[in-house]
Amino acid sequence: MRIFITGGSGLLGAKIAELALQDHEVYAGYCHNKPEFGEPVKFNLADELAFIHEIKPEVIIHTAALTNVDECETNKELAYKINVEGTKRVAAIAHELDAFSVYVSTDYVFPGDKGHYKEVDEPNPVDYYGYTKLQGEQYCDCVARPCVIYGAKPASGKVNFALWIIETLRNGEKVNIVTDQYITPTLNTNLAQMVLEIAKRRLKGIFHTAGATRVSRYEFALQVADKFGLDKDLIVASRMVDMRWAALRPMDSSLDTTKAAKYLKEKPYSLDMALEVLRGELR
Ligand SMILES: NC(=O)c1ccc[n+]([C@@H]2O[C@H](COP(=O)([O-])OP(=O)(O)OC[C@H]3O[C@@H](n4cnc5c(N)ncnc54)[C@H](OP(=O)(O)O)[C@@H]3O)[C@@H](O)[C@H]2O)c1
Repeated sequence: MRIFITGGSGLLGAKIAELALQDHEVYAGYCHNKPEFGEPVKFNLADELAFIHEIKPEVIIHTAALTNVDECETNKELAYKINVEGTKRVAAIAHELDAFSVYVSTDYVFPGDKGHYKEVDEPNPVDYYGYTKLQGEQYCDCVARPCVIYGAKPASGKVNFALWIIETLRNGEKVNIVTDQYITPTLNTNLAQMVLEIAKRRLKGIFHTAGATRVSRYEFALQVADKFGLDKDLIVASRMVDMRWAALRPMDSSLDTTKAAKYLKEKPYSLDMALEVLRGELR
């Protein structure tokens, strides 16, 4: 397959590019940070996207987005332009080229009032990031929703939640982590494998492609510390109200991954398995 990955320098897109390169021709789109894997293609989702025609992809995996939740809240115009209008135009070009398009959405489309969300549950985001990502869901052939992605390498100029915990604890410093926010954390490697399978099999519809285990962010940090032999006493319990966030966050946006486990050969990993894989990748 000839695959165009938007967000090829991101936490997910870089991993998809790395894995896809083994069997496919890969073009990795980016905006500021040159991707490590695939043929790099610099572009801005806010600009003209006609160049995609020249690549002639058979599959477009659209992972690029304005992912900073607080920035989306304070710069709504930009968030709409990138996450909604950009997605609409990527999908329109995919349609013109008869390319299969996969859109990577988020657990933040849900309000967080009950957790264990299934694909059939009604979205109702509490913040503008979630609103824009939900609007973006209407355009592509398939919607894959992960939740709190983590992985072995920094990407797009940032460390991720798990790496931040590992690095901070290794330095003997404390981390403040909320006990009252529930998630199904998703290892990028596992997510990339699921998304690639969806693309190869051209599966349409919505899939919750998150990790299989629901935990609080605090429990996640404890399990990371356990797996990496780090000092759990440095993990300080805090609450969502103590966080100075510009945007509201859903309290329990954990995703039910039963559908992905049933239909995909690449199954959502349990947290223990995902952390085991992460430990191997960090060796
Ligand atoms: N990270 C999470 O915890 C999480 C959870 C649920 C869902 N998601 C969704 O999963 C997807 C992937 O997330 P991620 O964590 O891999 O993202 P990320 O690491 O923040 O990377 C974002 C990617 O989008 C690109 N990008 C940003 N603005 C762009 C623009 N204007 N034009 C073109 N490219 C642009 C970035 O390019 P540069 O690096 O070159 O700037 C980068 O490759 C996103 O759609 C996100 O909404 C993420």
